This record gives sequence, structure tokens and C-alpha cells, in this order.
Amino acid sequence: MNECMDDNRIIIFDTTLRDGEQSPGCSMNLEEKLRVAQMLEEMGVDVIEAGFPIASKGDFESVQRIAKQVKTARVCGLARATRSDIDRCAEAVGPAPLKRIHTFISTSPLHMKFKLQMTPDRVLEAVSESVAYARSLVDDVEWSAEDGSRTEADFLCRCVEAAIAAGASTINIPDTVGYAVPDEYAALIAMLRHRVPNIDKAILSVHCHNDLGLAVANSLAAVQTGARQVECTINGLGERAGNAAQEEVVMALRTRADHLPYRTGIKTELITRASRLVSTITGIAVQPNKAIVGKNAFAHESGIHQDGMLKNAQTYEIMTPESVGLNKSTLVLGKHSGRAAFKAKLKDLGYELGENALEDAFGRFKDLADRKKDVFDEDLVSLLDNSLADGVQRIRFVGLEIHCGSRQPPSAALELEIDGTAATVTASGDGPVDATFNAIHHLFAHDAKLQLFQVHAVTEGTDAQAEVTVRLEENGKTVSAQGADTDTLVAAARAYINALNKLLVKREKTPPEALTA
Ligand code: KIV
Ligand code: ZN
Repeated sequence: MNECMDDNRIIIFDTTLRDGEQSPGCSMNLEEKLRVAQMLEEMGVDVIEAGFPIASKGDFESVQRIAKQVKTARVCGLARATRSDIDRCAEAVGPAPLKRIHTFISTSPLHMKFKLQMTPDRVLEAVSESVAYARSLVDDVEWSAEDGSRTEADFLCRCVEAAIAAGASTINIPDTVGYAVPDEYAALIAMLRHRVPNIDKAILSVHCHNDLGLAVANSLAAVQTGARQVECTINGLGERAGNAAQEEVVMALRTRADHLPYRTGIKTELITRASRLVSTITGIAVQPNKAIVGKNAFAHESGIHQDGMLKNAQTYEIMTPESVGLNKSTLVLGKHSGRAAFKAKLKDLGYELGENALEDAFGRFKDLADRKKDVFDEDLVSLLDNSLADGVQRIRFVGLEIHCGSRQPPSAALELEIDGTAATVTASGDGPVDATFNAIHHLFAHDAKLQLFQVHAVTEGTDAQAEVTVRLEENGKTVSAQGADTDTLVAAARAYINALNKLLVKREKTPPEALTA
């Protein structure tokens, strides 16, 4: 019997920082990646795929810093099947107490012929060579058959057997293009378990993309036929339509334990916090009707549903909001609250800040409390996430004064700090938002085009904080970012500046090409 079948514990391999970061519009700087890694560790993720070290100097540094920071989760880096990729990856994950190299090569006829231009025999050799080389550097090696779900069964079995023989202890079968359907994908995993002679020496892993909206269904189907590692991302971020959403996989396993008798090590009460953090940092908003973490996931609008809910919540709720860490809006603190109460509240919300960050957050809180009568948990979370996002940016917002209305042309007087130097300008435009963005353009010239400008209120009421999302595009690269403030124009300026900062990070990245023979 397969060793992994003895144990119904599912290993959660989170790739928000690697596949998630490859999402269109998504990029994170070093500090942001460290915060996400800390969150993932805290929530009990087993393996954190921290990045693709060969992709850029920034990717290498962030994987290495995460490897130094994370203590309880395994830190993994991605590498193509070349010595230079694997060396770079080993160096990056080196400082982690628990480390893994994840090496991959395409195995489908289409990918081998057109992308790699390698014969199947050469690919098979590369599998053995790359895994053996990675194993000479670290004890824990994962091997992935890119486009595995479209690979011929016999060839896939030979590759998997070779990878295990060379020392891989995790075998990942990605549905790279999101083409599989659940029963077919489950059968593929079952087939490998039955046909590969040394399969008992490895954990089978699944990595599903969501092109047909089936990533979570495919992952769960594969678990039922023997997969014991699920690769997933917070909010389902990832290439194209994304990867399987971690929160959906975990909550399906928890909620339907009667039918799916498997468990994960995830502290589900941290799911909402993780989702908000990743959304704020990446600037990629969660759709309101998204399962588990969407704004409406626990909202009951129709009278019949509300009536049922009042009589017994289970009539329309299959899991409690509390089980994913969603608590009722609570009034937190007022403008007279002191540091101790503020610090205690932050702890409640799961934030433990150092002295400087605490002082900065407290100042911002006082400022907010002066402008907004009631400060709710959501306000505080938004304020903290945004102030932490400000952290180490080249362009920093200092102040903004707007003149607008029906009697005068709009103008924006803006002060920024660029690489530590203060700069001011006054600009006009077609409306106050345009004037503000023109002012930013004057102070920091760039060619990026605005693709999206979206405003939503963090809480109810006319004094609510506005959360603005901005998406910019430059030479085919897109980035999104958010900014929040009780003043919508200040929020807009902050969002635009955050997006520009992200663009500066993204400019340094040149995606590695497909491996060629
Ligand atoms: O989707 C995919 O095939 C991947 C591999 C690199 C694991 O992301
Ligand atoms: Zn992928």
C-alpha cells in the first residue's frame, strides 16, 4: 500500500509568492514578500514556495530573506532542469532550517517539441540529472512534470520513476493549462500510484490552474485517489485564471470532512486576514462573490434567507464566519484611546509590530480618529496594511491639497519624497483625480498608462475610508496597488504612487526563457 495513503494529512504547499506573483498585475517588493511569508507560516502552511531565484536578483534576495526568516514551514524555491538554476536555488533556500528545491521540466509532446525542442529521451535524461544534482545539494527535492496532465501516460510513468530513483521525494503533476476535468485528473493520479513501481517512496502532489474554473475540484478529486500535497495560492492568484485557491481547498476539506476524511494543518481562523493582506499588497481585489473570502460570502440579502438565519444560522450557512476569522464589525477605539489599548487591539487583530512601526501606526490611527468618528476593525486593518505597504518605497506620499468644484478649474498641489528628496508641484487636469495624477506625472515622469481606477468604501457611512485600486501598464507589464484614506483623492494619490513603486520593482524583472536543449 502506498505510504501516503496511511496518512490522511494533506500537505499544503502555498505558491502565492511564486505562481501567485506571476499573476498579471501582481508583484510584491521584498518587505511585502516577507510579510506574506510570515502570514503563511503563522497560518500553518507546510511548504512556502518563496520564488524563482534565477528569475532576477530581487527574486533571489527575497527567497534568501524568507529562508532566513521562516522557521517552522519548509521554504522552497523553483528551478528549471539546469545546474545554474539549481545552484542559484540551493544558495537562496540555503539558510532555511527546512528547505526544498523544486525542479521541473515539460513532459507533454507539445511542450517537448515546440517549447523545449528536446526529444523525449533527452527530457528523461534531464529529469534524472536535474533531480540527482538537486539532491546532491539538499535532502528534499520535488520534481514537477510541467504540462503533466497532457503528457502520454507511459512517458509520464517513466519520468516519475526516474525522478524518484534519482532522489525526488515529492512528485508533482501539474495541470499547467487548466485543461483537466476532475474524474480524468483523479484517474491520472490513481494510474501513477498503480503503475510506477517506486511510487511508495514519494508523496504525490497536485498543482491545478483554473482556466476552466476547475482547479479546486480537480485538486480535491486527486486527493481522493491518493494525492497528499496540494499546491495552491491565497485568493487563487496565479498565472492567467490563477491556481487552486488555498482557502477553498482547506475549507472544503474542513466543512466536508464527512465525505473527505482528510485534514490540513491550516489555522482556518487566519484565512480572512491572509486574504486581505495579499489583496492589499498585490492590489488585486477579491471579487465580492468569491467563495470563502469574498465580501458577500457570508452576507444574506433576501428576506427569506434572513428570516431563516435568525431562526437557525445553519439554514443558510454551511460554515461559520468565525471559522474563517470573519468577525462582526466592531467599534474599536476612539480618539482618546492610548497606546496600550491600541497595541492590545492590534494583537487581537493579529498584528505584532516593532516599536517604530507601532509608533507610526499609532500616529496614523490618531489622525484617522480625528477625521472619522467611529473607527472599526476594518478601518484599522486597512490602515495597518496600507501603512506597512508604505514601508520601503522609493516614492513616498507626503501631502496633497486640492482645489475643485463647479466654480474653479481643478488643481492639485502635491508633495512627494523621491529617493529621500522632497519635491512639490501644482498641476491642473480634467477633474481633481486627473489633476492629482498629472501632478504625480510631473514629479516622477513615466510612460505607464492607467488601466483601472476603482473606488470602494471600507465600511458604511459617508465618513468611511475610501479604498482606491489603480492598475498601471508599461511595456506589457501590469501592476495593481491600493491606497486608503478618508479623503478619496488622498487614497487615489497613494494608490497611484504604490502602483508606480511596484512598477519600479517589476522593471528589474526579466522572465527566464523556456529551457532549451
Ligand atoms: O503550472 C505549472 O506547471 C507550474 C510548474 C512550474 C510547477 O507552475
Ligand atoms: Zn503553475
